[in-house]
Amino acid sequence: MSENKNSSGLLGWIDARFPLTKMFEEHLSKYYAPKNFNFWYFFGSLALLVLVLQIVTGIFLTMHYKPDGDLAFSSVEYIMRDVDWGWLIRYLHSTGSSAFFIVVYLHMFRALIYGSYQKPRELIWLFGMFIFLALMAEAFMGYLLPWGQMSYWGAQVIISLFGAVPVVGDELTLWIRGDFVVSDATLNRFFALHVVAVPIVLLALVVMHIIALHEVGSNNPDGIEIKKNKDANGIPLDGIPFHPYYSVKDLVGVVVFLILFSVVVFFMPEMGGYFLEHANFVPANQFKTPEHIAPVWYFTPFYAILRAIPDKLTGVIAMFAAIAVLFVLPWIDRGKVKSVRYRSTSFKLLLVMLVVSFLGLGYLGALPATETRTLFARVFSLGYFGFFLGLWWISKNEVTKPVPERVR
Ligand code: HEM
Repeated sequence: MSENKNSSGLLGWIDARFPLTKMFEEHLSKYYAPKNFNFWYFFGSLALLVLVLQIVTGIFLTMHYKPDGDLAFSSVEYIMRDVDWGWLIRYLHSTGSSAFFIVVYLHMFRALIYGSYQKPRELIWLFGMFIFLALMAEAFMGYLLPWGQMSYWGAQVIISLFGAVPVVGDELTLWIRGDFVVSDATLNRFFALHVVAVPIVLLALVVMHIIALHEVGSNNPDGIEIKKNKDANGIPLDGIPFHPYYSVKDLVGVVVFLILFSVVVFFMPEMGGYFLEHANFVPANQFKTPEHIAPVWYFTPFYAILRAIPDKLTGVIAMFAAIAVLFVLPWIDRGKVKSVRYRSTSFKLLLVMLVVSFLGLGYLGALPATETRTLFARVFSLGYFGFFLGLWWISKNEVTKPVPERVR
C-alpha cells in the first residue's frame, strides 16, 4: 500500500486504495484534447447527459408504472394526472428519447464529416454503432410500454417483419412476442428488457466507447493526429487538458441544450405528434387497427426504405442493410484524408446526397404511402446506398487538398 505523494488526507487515503486521482488525471485533467474542437464536438457530452437523464427519469417512472396489459395504459394516465410531478418525469423521458436520437444523429454526422471513424478510431466507431443498435432496441421496446394504439400496432408491424425470414420466420415472431399476437406476455418481456437488460448493455458500451477514445485520442475538425507533434514532456503541442478547458466549454453546450429541451418539454411535449403520436392517447385495441401506422420520427428513414421495396423479404433485407453498411464504413472509405475540409468536391457532393436522402426518407416514412411518395422513397433509398458505393469508389484515388502539419 503506497500513499500518493501528491495527495494527503482523505484523498490520499482513497488514492492508496483506489486509483481516483490517477483516473481523474488520465481521463480529465491530463487528457489532452485538440484545441480546435468546434460546435460538432458538443454532442458526445450531450449524449452522456441525455443517457443519465433517461436513466434517472426511467427509474422514477418505473416506481408508478404497471407492466400489465390491463393496467399499463391507465398507470401512465395516473402518472400524468395524479403522481406529484409525474407529468414532468414522463415528458422529460418521452422528450428525452427524441433528444437522444437528435444528439446521436448529429454526433454520428460529425464523425462522418471529420473522418473520425477512420484509422485508428475504427473501434470507437464500432462501439458507437453497437450503441446505436442498442438505442434503437431500447426506444422500440420503450414505445410499447404506454400500451396505446400506436404502441401496440407499431410493435405488431415491426415484429411481424421477422416473419419474412425464410423457414423459421413464423417461429421467430412467435418466440419474440411470446404469443400469437402482441399481448401481455410481450409487454412483460419488453418491460424487463427496456428497464434492465438493454440499459446495462448500453452503459457497458458507452464505457468501452470512451475507453477506446481515450486510448487513441480525439480526432478534430482538421483531421490531424495531434500526437504526432509533442513537446519535450510528451504533451501534444496542439492539445489542451480536457479539464478545465473542455469541461467548461461543454457546460455552455449543456446550458443551450437544456434551454431548447425545456421549451419542448414545457410548451410542446407532443411536438405535433412527432414525439408522442396522437393515436397513442387511445388505449391499445387488438381488434381495431389505426388508419395510419407510422413509427416515431427517428425510425422513419429506415421504415421508408422498407416500404420502398414491394417484396417484403427484400424490403427487410434493405432496411437492415441500411444499418449494416454503417458498421463497415471505416473499410468502405479508403481515403487517407479525414476531414471534409481537405477532401474532394466529389466527397462533399456525396455527403449532400446522403443528407438529402436521409432527411427525405425520414419525411416520407412518416406519411402514408402513395405512388408518387413511393417513387421518391426509391430515389432517396438509391441516394442513401449510393453514398457508400460512391465513397468506396472515389476514396481510392481521391484528389485532396494538402493537410496542414498543425491544427488551424
Ligand atoms: C449513448 C450514446 C453515445 C455516447 C454517450 C457517446 C459519447 C461520446 C463522447 C463523450 C465522445 C467524446 C466527445 C466527442 O467527440 O463528441 C465520443 C466520441 C465519438 N463517438 Fe460517441 N457516443 C455515443 C454514440 C455514438 C454513436 C452512435 C457513434 C457512431 C456510430 C459514435 C461515434 C463516435 C466517434 C467516431 C467518436 C470520436 C470522435 C472524434 O474524436 O472526432 N458515438 N462519443
